[in-house]
Amino acid sequence: MSLSAVEFSAWLSERAQHVEQVLARVLPHEDAVPARLHRAMRYSVLGGGKRVRAALVFAAAHACRPALSTQPDAECAWAQDLAAAAVELVHAYSLVHDDLPCMDDDVLRRGRPTVHVQFDEATALLAGDALQPLAFDLLAQMPIAPPLIVQAIRDLAQAAGSLGMAGGQAIDLESVGKALTQDALQQMHVLKTGALLAASVSLGGLASGANAQQRSALEAYSAAMGLAFQVIDDVLDVTADSSQLGKTPGKDAAANKPTYVTLMGLEQARTFAGELHQRALAALHPLGDSAGLLAGLADFIVLRDH
Ligand code: IPE
Ligand code: IPE
Ligand code: MG
Ligand code: MG
Ligand code: MG
Repeated sequence: MSLSAVEFSAWLSERAQHVEQVLARVLPHEDAVPARLHRAMRYSVLGGGKRVRAALVFAAAHACRPALSTQPDAECAWAQDLAAAAVELVHAYSLVHDDLPCMDDDVLRRGRPTVHVQFDEATALLAGDALQPLAFDLLAQMPIAPPLIVQAIRDLAQAAGSLGMAGGQAIDLESVGKALTQDALQQMHVLKTGALLAASVSLGGLASGANAQQRSALEAYSAAMGLAFQVIDDVLDVTADSSQLGKTPGKDAAANKPTYVTLMGLEQARTFAGELHQRALAALHPLGDSAGLLAGLADFIVLRDH
């Protein structure tokens, strides 16, 4: 499938609206006790975000679904919805905690006050705490074979844990004021951001019954894309303004964080992201025409302005 930019962007915004509806349905109602916590959870998750991780689930599932699958379409679609909602919940939790005063101390996220500013720090901490197990609850409900559910739960757990996102965040905080080598910076980015993006791709594959050859193509794609995503996040922190980003720019430099921009300069960082982009597209070859949406996401991730 070869998609025009207009078709891809229509697909992305339809999928973003769709996952928003799924999330609105699976999150506890804001009147449910304790109402303040539930309001904070819904505030953290709903009403914003590019929904790149959800889109990666849908695009990977699309790339791998065999034409002769015996799984009913409605079940496959619901498995994807649950996986897409799960990765967005873990992502939203990571943003709530990332913005806390003890971490990046940010006041603006997705164009609105951060959760600890809108509510309070304890509520923000608890909202993050509660979003994470909800994600695993959703994965446990996927209508796929039980061993695949277990695999999905393990993929997300490992991506979020100390050898994944939480570990990357720890390295990020330890690295303030340090000049990291490119290898060390890459390890930090792969863990703090790449791991969850890679898990999104792999859950999409699991939801649609990917075979071993498809899974290995997905892994190669997401290894390049996951890193490219954070390289571009570092670039945008320098080049974009707050109305584009919905968050405060210039925070990395202000906090003295090592980034790809501080390591190699703006132009070299962009060039490196371009190389990763090409690597990601090349990795899709074994998937053939059905990988058009994954290719569109690679373009979006590297060429985005927010
Ligand atoms: C921001 O992620 C945090 C990083 C991992 C760099 P996104 O840029 O995907 O944030 P939203 O979901 O679109 O707000
Ligand atoms: C955040 O990285 C990564 C996670 C939330 C896991 P950043 O700190 O660079 O993200 P932004 O720039 O605040 O969105
Ligand atoms: Mg951070
Ligand atoms: Mg931050
Ligand atoms: Mg950033």
